[in-house]
Amino acid sequence: MTQDRKKKILIVDDDASHRLMLKATLSEEGYEIFEASDGDEAVRMVEEQFYDLIMLDLKMKKVDGLEALKEIKKISPAIPVLIMTAYASVKTAVEGLKMGAFDYMVKPLNMDEVKINIEKTLNYERLKIENKVLKERLNQEFDFSSIIGKSRKMREVFEVLAMAAPSNATILILGESGTGKELIANAVHQNSLRKDKPFVKINCAALAENLLESELFGHEKGAYTGAVSRRLGRFEQADGGTLFLDEIGDMSLATQSKILRVLQEGEFERLGGEKTLRVDVRIIAATNKNLEKEVEEGRFRKDLYFRLSVVPVHLPALRERKEDIPALAEHFLKKYAEKNQRLIRGFTPEALDLLMRYEWPGNVRELENTIERAVILSRDEMITAAVLPNNLKKDFDSQEKETVADALVGRSIKDVEKELILKTLEQTGHNITRAAEILGITRRGLQYKLKELGIK
Ligand SMILES: Nc1ncnc2c1ncn2[C@@H]1O[C@H](COP(=O)(O)OP(=O)(O)OP(=O)(O)O)[C@@H](O)[C@H]1O
Ligand SMILES: [Mg+2]
Repeated sequence: MTQDRKKKILIVDDDASHRLMLKATLSEEGYEIFEASDGDEAVRMVEEQFYDLIMLDLKMKKVDGLEALKEIKKISPAIPVLIMTAYASVKTAVEGLKMGAFDYMVKPLNMDEVKINIEKTLNYERLKIENKVLKERLNQEFDFSSIIGKSRKMREVFEVLAMAAPSNATILILGESGTGKELIANAVHQNSLRKDKPFVKINCAALAENLLESELFGHEKGAYTGAVSRRLGRFEQADGGTLFLDEIGDMSLATQSKILRVLQEGEFERLGGEKTLRVDVRIIAATNKNLEKEVEEGRFRKDLYFRLSVVPVHLPALRERKEDIPALAEHFLKKYAEKNQRLIRGFTPEALDLLMRYEWPGNVRELENTIERAVILSRDEMITAAVLPNNLKKDFDSQEKETVADALVGRSIKDVEKELILKTLEQTGHNITRAAEILGITRRGLQYKLKELGIK
């Protein structure tokens, strides 16, 4: 943030030789200097124009410094004031600090100290203004409201994002398919200072090596057959903004080296081009692969991995944060009910139960698709279990069986048989005919078993 305008400093002191000395030194430093010989004059000058800083002597014959300070702060509360004071009146200087002066310096002044103090004060003021501008541009708070998730794991993700998003740090998003990697990448850009600049996305898995490089870095006319004109690559398109490298785990080693060079030097050439181009691009990368394993097995460059994983963000699978399912389901229900103009209020307890029990191998995307389909199929004002796909129910059944069997492992068949018969009898009120029916054996068969197991 460069400012060409000279900073204006008002020196208030009744000692003309002191003013002169300050003026000489500070003009040399490139400041524009104004002078007032007493408090009254200073107040009048502040009323008339804006100063970046005021140097105020506390002991003056007409209207003393503190009084002037009070008036100045009334007129222009934001002007930083540096108090100059004799050693004897440090107490008064402290009074001045309480009244809003920025700092004080003890006379006789050391000119180096004065210069540093002025610079520090002006810098501080600049930071204060910049901070305010930044905050306004970011709408005060980081906004991840489009991302649903109250689970501890998601809150941890948000914490990392809130810290990393505004900076230019490279972010690596790791997570299974459908966990929301692209959604997060988008949110990071929206919560950064680059949000008014382009967000450019490229899927590194979708293109063959040559095409991918041409997409990333662009090409000159005639770089290869079919390159009929010059084309800007994604890096150039994203200049000043953010480039989202999706499915980065699927990139060839050759392309990886070129990406590494851009990350390290900020430089690249278009395919078939001689000129070295420079861009200012923030990188967000994502993959559903285990990059560490890819590195171990020699398919991914270690140095690139280190470069990318400055801020790693692990998106948990949906099954690891099932408590987020109801809110996500509601969110998608609202979205698709609106889109399809359906009046659907919510889910029946059975339907919600199915959603909660399922393991969601396709994560949030699968949940979203499931809800969209259910909304379209539903004829009721509640989504029922009947409109949910069968695999949700099957999965549920097999899970149930598994847990029953799991609980039985370690026991003998005879033992289990006995308990099953006893429980069934209990439920039928010791009606042997009914119990035999449920157990799928004849009445005589059951009686024989009872004898054999020593029940009767
Ligand atoms: N926490 C969330 N809140 C709301 N919507 C979400 C959330 N997570 C994912 N989604 C939605 O789920 C869908 C899939 O998300 P996204 O495309 O970002 O996943 P991905 O991790 O990039 O998947 P893939 O690896 O298959 O590319 C999108 O429609 C996205 O809006
Ligand atoms: Mg994706």
